[in-house]
Amino acid sequence: MEFFCIFIVMKPSKVIKKEITIRVCHDVSQLTKDEQRLIREAQASVGQAYAPYSNFKVGSAVLLENGEIIRGSNQENAVYPLALCAERVALFAAGSQFPDIPIVAIALTTQKSLKENELPVFPCGSCRQALIESETRHQHDIELLITGSDGTVCVMDSVKDILPFAFKGDSLK
Ligand code: THU
Repeated sequence: MEFFCIFIVMKPSKVIKKEITIRVCHDVSQLTKDEQRLIREAQASVGQAYAPYSNFKVGSAVLLENGEIIRGSNQENAVYPLALCAERVALFAAGSQFPDIPIVAIALTTQKSLKENELPVFPCGSCRQALIESETRHQHDIELLITGSDGTVCVMDSVKDILPFAFKGDSLK
């Protein structure tokens, strides 16, 4: 039996490149007081996680434009797929209590001990999608403060940085 393989190398007519900036901060005192407070709230909410199945506790806190802070932690269930991530618990609580107020920042933290030079745990794909919906809904970028157990904080200006080419309501029209 013979196999023939033909490769057609096409020259693209256009190349799209996306650049993202992550500021990696090892000293929280470099952050603003609001950012530091939000991180502390996320760290405090780790202890309120209900994660008996994964034993992976996550805490988050969102800051609204009116100054309110709403915490969230992951909530699991014996029916595993029902679990909800910490970010979405906080995000949906904020959306239901303050539907008209934009979210300006979210802090996220886990208990995972990090190896040297390892970045903190970033939000899962579903949470990225839920977060970008909030940015689109309120026409307001959400700053991300992704914190590791060693105190490292990755700072990004928008959810677009972690979810480029996102699916949005516009895509449905
Ligand atoms: N988890 C979060 O809370 N946030 C994420 O972004 C990733 C995962 C939770 C869900 C589940 O309770 C546990 O971590 C293990 O996946």
